[in-house]
Amino acid sequence: MSLHHATLRQLKVFDTLAIHGSVVRTAEALHLTPPAVSIQVKQLAETVGQPLVEQIGKRLHLTAHGRVVARACRDIFGRIESLGQELAALQGLESGSLSVAIITTASYFVPRLLGDFCEDHPGIAVAMHVGNRETVLERMERNEDDLYILGQPPDSAQITAAPFAPNLLVAVAYPGHALAGEARISPKRLAREPFIARELGSGTRRAAEEFYAESGLVPSIRMELGSNEAIKQSIAGHLGISILSESTVRGELASGELVRLDVEGLPLRRQWYAACPKNKMLSPAAKAFRAFLENRAQVETRSANGT
Ligand code: PGA
Repeated sequence: MSLHHATLRQLKVFDTLAIHGSVVRTAEALHLTPPAVSIQVKQLAETVGQPLVEQIGKRLHLTAHGRVVARACRDIFGRIESLGQELAALQGLESGSLSVAIITTASYFVPRLLGDFCEDHPGIAVAMHVGNRETVLERMERNEDDLYILGQPPDSAQITAAPFAPNLLVAVAYPGHALAGEARISPKRLAREPFIARELGSGTRRAAEEFYAESGLVPSIRMELGSNEAIKQSIAGHLGISILSESTVRGELASGELVRLDVEGLPLRRQWYAACPKNKMLSPAAKAFRAFLENRAQVETRSANGT
């Protein structure tokens, strides 16, 4: 098989198809007609010598060969993007783009950090994508962004992750709750309370379940919700307790709308990480943002230690 006949255009069309999963949406994104998309993909498949997509029911799926080609496309276009940025960097950090995928829970503070960064580099165009842990890891797998902010990087030698801020997970209840004000509540006692859990795929949910599991317990999940905000409202509405990142409840704890429970083994002391695949060629903008986060972490550690 000689891939030299594959054109960059065909690869771009296939890359976009792999992201959108639909010929119509790919055509829209690239300002082409659907038949033009199908022809480009067909020609690429002929060059590869194997089908790249298959239609099962209404959905289009990548074949095993298609997935390998799609991964290569991400590398190629990632490299082209960083080439553009490297060239732009020759003129300093005056232009360029930065795409960051952040975990839902980090959306309580990362946008402010990005805001400070953009004030220093007004020419950089920033895109931010918010999703739960599973979604952010899928984006990393597909190499869709420059950096990924998450609470628990996957345990893989293929990924580099640097901690930049503490992430404490605390148990929260409404102020008149029977356990509010009680000292050293045992996990066993806590497990008897109705628990309001984040959705499956959430890092917060995973950490909370691990906490209970360490004592051989499972939380009695009363409700599952896909947002920290909805969980806070449900706690305030006396529907149960939860374990959440402190950064999501700082305002409510300060105003007294919610209270922190004193539970043995809590808070869970975790970190926020800036991660990316180890072999990723980071753009100058991404390198600058990572350095900005590391610098922030050092300044905050120094001020916490009074040095
Ligand atoms: P989540 O992630 O928003 O998916 O719960 C938070 C975390 O990983 O700590």
